[in-house]
Amino acid sequence: MGTRKEKNMAINKSKIAIIGCGFVGSTTAFSLLTQGVCDEIVLIDINREKAYGEVMDLKNSIEYLNRNTKVVVGTYEDCKDADIVVITASAPMLENQERSRLGMLESSARIVKSIVEPIMASGFQGHFIVISNPVDIMAYYVYQLSGLPKNQVIGTGTSLDSARLKNFIADLVHVDPRSVYAYTMGEHGDSQMVPWSCVTVGGKAFYDIIEDNKELVGDVNLDELVLETTKAGWEILHRKGTTYYGIATSTVGIIKAILNDENSIIPVSTLLEGEYGQEGIFCGVPAILNRSGVADVLEIHMQDEEMEKFQKSADIIREYCNKLSF
Ligand code: 2OP
Repeated sequence: MGTRKEKNMAINKSKIAIIGCGFVGSTTAFSLLTQGVCDEIVLIDINREKAYGEVMDLKNSIEYLNRNTKVVVGTYEDCKDADIVVITASAPMLENQERSRLGMLESSARIVKSIVEPIMASGFQGHFIVISNPVDIMAYYVYQLSGLPKNQVIGTGTSLDSARLKNFIADLVHVDPRSVYAYTMGEHGDSQMVPWSCVTVGGKAFYDIIEDNKELVGDVNLDELVLETTKAGWEILHRKGTTYYGIATSTVGIIKAILNDENSIIPVSTLLEGEYGQEGIFCGVPAILNRSGVADVLEIHMQDEEMEKFQKSADIIREYCNKLSF
C-alpha cells in the first residue's frame, strides 16, 4: 500500500455510550447500528462478559449494513468524550407492582446514582438520555447528581407513549401513524394525559375526524384511548416479559435529533421552569431538540380541563421527586 500521507482533517466523530446491556440497551445499540446514526457505540455493563457478547454479536451485522460503526466494550472512563450517554439500567418493571413504574423509584435511584457519579468523574460534559424508570423522577435525579445544564439531561418521557397513542389513532382511522400529530404529556405512567384539542390527522382536527367519520370509527371513547396508551407497556410486558423495540427506537429518535441538529419536536421529559405553570420537575412535554439538547419547550394552548389533568400528573411527579435522597 506504500506510505500514505496522513491528511489532518478535523472530522468530528460521534460517540454514544450505552449503560446497561439488557434488552433495552442492546436494542438501542442495534437501532443505532442499523440506522447508521453514529461513528462509535460503547457498551458498558457491570456484567462485562454480557457486554462483550453483545458487542461481538452486533459487529457481525456490520457487513450487511450501509455504514461501518465502531462497537466496543467500555468503562465509565470511556464516557469522557462521549457526545451522549444513554442510561438504560433500571429496576425491572414487574407486573406485581400494581402496574406502576413509581414503585421502582428506590432501587432505580440506587442504580442511577452508582452510574452517574463515576461518569461525571470521567469528565463527561455531553448529554444524558435517561430511560430508567420511573423516568421523570430518574431524569430529575440525573440532573441533580450530574450538575449538567438542564438542556443536557433528557428523559425519554412520553416519547414512547406518544408513538403508542399515534398507533392507536392510526389504526382507528386507517392512516400511517406518521400522519397523526398527537402526544401524551405529563408522567410516563398512569397519570399522563392527551391534549385532544391539539390532536390532528393530516392537519385536520381529530375531533372533526371522528365527527365526520362516524360510520368508520363509531363512538370513540377518548378516555379509553388514553387508558389503552398508558397500559400498553404493561400489556406488552404481560405477553413478552418486557419491552424494548419501542423504547429503543424512541431513544434513537432523540439521539438523531441531537446529533443531526434537527430542531424537531419530540415529547420528552425535561426540566420545567415555569412552562405550563410548573417549576422544578421533569415532565413529558413537547420540546424542540437540536445539538444543544432541549433547545426549548413548546407551550401548546390547552383547554382548562386538559390543563387540570396535566397539573395532576405534574403533582404526582413532584410528590415522588420529593422522596429522593441525595
Ligand atoms: C415502556 O413503557 C420501558 O417504560 C417503558 O415500555
